[in-house]
Amino acid sequence: MRVIDSLPATRVAVSGDEAQRLRRYVQQTEEIVGWIPDVRVARLSDTPALTRLFADHDVGPWIYTMPQPITEETVRAFILRHLHEREEGAGVLFIAFDSEGEAAAYFDVELWAEWGACKFGGAVKPQRQGKGYGGATTLAAVDWCFSRLGVERICETTGLDNTRSIRLLSRIGFQEVGRTISRRPDGTARPSIVWELERRVWTTPRLRARASAATSPDRSLSAVAEGRPGP
Ligand SMILES: CC(C)(COP(=O)(O)OP(=O)(O)OC[C@H]1O[C@@H](n2cnc3c(N)ncnc32)[C@H](O)[C@@H]1OP(=O)(O)O)[C@@H](O)C(=O)NCCC(=O)NCCS
Repeated sequence: MRVIDSLPATRVAVSGDEAQRLRRYVQQTEEIVGWIPDVRVARLSDTPALTRLFADHDVGPWIYTMPQPITEETVRAFILRHLHEREEGAGVLFIAFDSEGEAAAYFDVELWAEWGACKFGGAVKPQRQGKGYGGATTLAAVDWCFSRLGVERICETTGLDNTRSIRLLSRIGFQEVGRTISRRPDGTARPSIVWELERRVWTTPRLRARASAATSPDRSLSAVAEGRPGP
């Protein structure tokens, strides 16, 4: 098994112009149009809603990048860090709300522009887990990364025991490429599986059809954002 010291695992440099284009896209993106309606870049005013989502024991413990401890103060800093990353074209945090104004899902993108690669993390609120919403959201996120942002490769990590994510990524077509140790903000370690998906593989009709057949986009649309952008 390959041990990967730092991400992304595969590094194929893109041209300077392409790297710049990728950074600019991240700097300018506002929302994800397409399969997930009304998903937008997170704002500082989203702190209470995001704190409630992260604080749930079916969300926070699964994600190694979570702020520790999860409080409004640390989540505010998490959002602020992503806003700075967006200014630099290095990352972006998206949030979707349900009809009650609660955070229904989030996903954040880390961009390695020089390698034409990115990584995303995310979660759906516990009441919606295990019903196909996460699958649909992940599919939409992959489509956004390849079709809109336009990276060559997505690199993902999952905890060794995160069965749902492992099944999800495998079904979508991600390949396991090795193992790494992910570091949480508090310095503790989490062994992770490293996955990759190449755009040239994803764009093959067979893989796209297989991934979307297993997760109905129709179900995702009403499900993930269910209606409206956040306050
Ligand atoms: C991971 C997450 C996004 C998946 O979304 P979801 O809506 O719960 O999952 P889905 O219903 O789309 O199902 C995904 C897969 O897990 C399987 N699954 C669902 N619930 C399961 C359970 N309790 N046990 C085992 N497998 C399960 C599904 O059958 C599906 O596999 P398949 O495609 O082979 O049929 C969501 O569970 C979540 O937000 N978890 C907490 C945060 C997290 O782990 N984020 C990912 C970090 S890498």
